[in-house]
Amino acid sequence: MNVASLQQQFTSDLAGAASEADLRALRDKYLARKGGLVSNLLKDVASAPAEQRPVLGRQANELKQHIDTQLTERLAQAAARKPAADAIDVTLAGRAPFIGHRHPLTLLRDRIESFFLRQGFLIVEGPELEDDYHNFEALNMPAEHPARDMQDTLYLASPVTSAVGSPATLLRTHTSGMQVRYMERFPPPVRLIAPGRVYRRDNLDLTHTPMFTQVEGLVVGENVTLADLKGTLETFAHDLFGPERRTRFRPSFFPYTEPSGELDISCGVCGGTGRAPADARSVSPKPAERQAGEGGCAMCKQTGWVEVLGSGMVHPAVFEAVGYDPERYTGFAFGVGIERLALLKWGVEDIRLFYENDLRFLEQFPL
Ligand code: DAH
Repeated sequence: MNVASLQQQFTSDLAGAASEADLRALRDKYLARKGGLVSNLLKDVASAPAEQRPVLGRQANELKQHIDTQLTERLAQAAARKPAADAIDVTLAGRAPFIGHRHPLTLLRDRIESFFLRQGFLIVEGPELEDDYHNFEALNMPAEHPARDMQDTLYLASPVTSAVGSPATLLRTHTSGMQVRYMERFPPPVRLIAPGRVYRRDNLDLTHTPMFTQVEGLVVGENVTLADLKGTLETFAHDLFGPERRTRFRPSFFPYTEPSGELDISCGVCGGTGRAPADARSVSPKPAERQAGEGGCAMCKQTGWVEVLGSGMVHPAVFEAVGYDPERYTGFAFGVGIERLALLKWGVEDIRLFYENDLRFLEQFPL
């Protein structure tokens, strides 16, 4: 290979060298002591006829010098372009900060509140430490009344005196006492919901926690009827669970309402058929229970219906206790458990999951 063509080859190689590694490879290719193209050329010079050697030798050395200068220069440029070791690469994709969000039970409570706000209801809150009068007596459950056994009450070791009212002796077992607290202070008409925590002496299991959340509702006026109760609660159930779910009222008993009824909706797991759904896993956590439920839907115990809430027309005795005229006013009331709604709405099998604070569970609930 002659000097001129080697020079040409280098020029085109250099033009194609993009990276620092390419440049180093070129240095090897041309200048390596062993096998480098220019080194080989210099060896050829040694075996050339004596009269050509000085010229060839000078040309070959000039080429070697040229290649060395070019590569050194380009390598220096590449090094200058390289970012410092501690440089920040502003083109890297950003890392999104972890954004927290509200607890599913809070989301559900907000949703319930916004439904009733749209219907013109007021939201009130009251004490979790309650006295016997508001939790039981004024609700037509005098001492020794057997209905007190419907709820296992947690009593305080010693009464707690507050600025207003009589000393609290218990943790409220339901939010129904808020009906009394509100009517004692304000005249009719009334249209309110009272959300809040309630407590019962229940052991933890799939469907029970000693503390849970209720929303109480109360509507009182001169012409409030059972039709108003049904219309309001059916609209509520459809808003929360979807218009395709069927509803029904089943007679029940509560001392503070007469008549009393429980609202059921058609089961969301089996579609109201009572038969086992194709995917029974969404209902029963344990294989044994799943097997037991194989003949039918475990969520609704094969009835096709699930219970949503308790309700009724306010008992005249409650109106008398708060000083409302039962001849003039009528009203309806209801109480609903937020956890229970959550289990039904999302098909969750174990209420305890809502309190274990495992983010993998809690992050699954958009509303
Ligand atoms: N207090 C009842 C409970 O805790 C729920 C309830 C039923 C509330 C009927 C009401 C009602 O206001 O009318 O299970």
